[in-house]
Amino acid sequence: MEAYITDWFSLIVRWIHLITGIAWIGASLHFIWLDNSLQEPPKWKKDKGIKGDNWSIHGGGIYEFNKYALAPPAWPATLHWSKWEAYSTWLSGTLLMVAVYYIQAQSYLVGPDNWISDPSLAVGASIGFLALGLGFYELAVRSPLKHQPMLFAFVIVIYLTFLSWLATKLFSDRAAYLHVGAVMGTIMAGNVFLGIIPAQKSFVAAVEKGLEPDADLAAFAKLRSTHNNYFTLPVLFCMISNHYPFLYGHEYNWLVLAYVMALMAYARHFFNLRHRGIIKPSILVQAFIAFLVAAVYLGYDKLPATMDVADLGDSAGGASVPEPVVDDERATYILAQHCVVCHAATPTFAGFAAPPAGVLMDELANVVGSAARIRTAVATNYMPLGNVTGMTEVERKDLLNWLDNVSP
Ligand code: HEC
Repeated sequence: MEAYITDWFSLIVRWIHLITGIAWIGASLHFIWLDNSLQEPPKWKKDKGIKGDNWSIHGGGIYEFNKYALAPPAWPATLHWSKWEAYSTWLSGTLLMVAVYYIQAQSYLVGPDNWISDPSLAVGASIGFLALGLGFYELAVRSPLKHQPMLFAFVIVIYLTFLSWLATKLFSDRAAYLHVGAVMGTIMAGNVFLGIIPAQKSFVAAVEKGLEPDADLAAFAKLRSTHNNYFTLPVLFCMISNHYPFLYGHEYNWLVLAYVMALMAYARHFFNLRHRGIIKPSILVQAFIAFLVAAVYLGYDKLPATMDVADLGDSAGGASVPEPVVDDERATYILAQHCVVCHAATPTFAGFAAPPAGVLMDELANVVGSAARIRTAVATNYMPLGNVTGMTEVERKDLLNWLDNVSP
């Protein structure tokens, strides 16, 4: 019953998180696009203090956006502030963290080879990781570094690489990727709450009093907003990476993540330039080539395994003896010992109400049907989850051997 309630809780919170996230990122992408595609306005608008305009058609209506250089001549009755999109995304994300990783810490947060094996300690480490991750960023962004955007960008790349590494030491691989996304999301929400909104408030206050708005504060808000812009794509990547054990199960998963995130931020740069009319396709080409290099590197160890089998079959000399094929009986035994407690129609493992990820393994035919997926989960040490069932290396090798033979 408890597992059933947890499932509903996590489903609803995830749904809300997705919607609020779309609203936040969507608004952010739209405003960046709008800002970068402002056109030179006609003179009568310039005289009113408008520095750029944009005409759009959407949903069957024509819109005219005007951006004022500073304050409008008359203050509007209602002014929309984009902030709840960010706050509600962060709040629902925090709830989702609790629903998945804190309530089910033993299954999801703790990994077999981490520094921390106690679930409660791991929850504490998770909170500390997010708080310190935000804290150090806030220190850096308020330091003199803010006057050197390029150097700062470099520092952030190193910082996030370090956080990726640290996360893989503290948490299970899957949780580690999620935590990197969560810490970046926290920094982004912090940028809104601690920097952008206060700057906007002081802007409005100054204008209302007829004073000159503080240009430094505005530049500071802009810097934070730029960071958020470059974080967007990597954060979304971290959030969906959860479904791909071939990535987070890799030996150098932290480096893979940092590399892919850097490529995404670089690709984002192409779009930022393009909005301003600077088209540099070479950026996308370079990012794509660098991505291909990573994909080949990650797939490299997968090729020889299957090729070896073919090579052995071809070697007429018979000098090398192929490994004996593991039989169905042994495979059934290993699966029953280590997987079926969770991956059955009615799991017996505490906390599971249904077979996780819809993967059923109580019948060999089902296992053969999803052999490729199961192979990845086993080869990357992702399964058994946190190795709670204590699968040995020999059993792992035997199961992989059997999988290779049932579905080459
Ligand atoms: C403690 C319970 C538990 C045990 C034991 C367990 N699993 Fe899982 N398994 C899970 C959970 C939870 C998920 C869903 C994780 C996710 O959403 O990424 C999962 C997901 C999977 C997936 C899908 C991964 C994907 O998204 O492609 C495969 C395949 C899998 N398990 C195979 C196995 C195999 C093989 C074993 C035994 C060697 C095993 N599992 C043992 C809990 C378990």
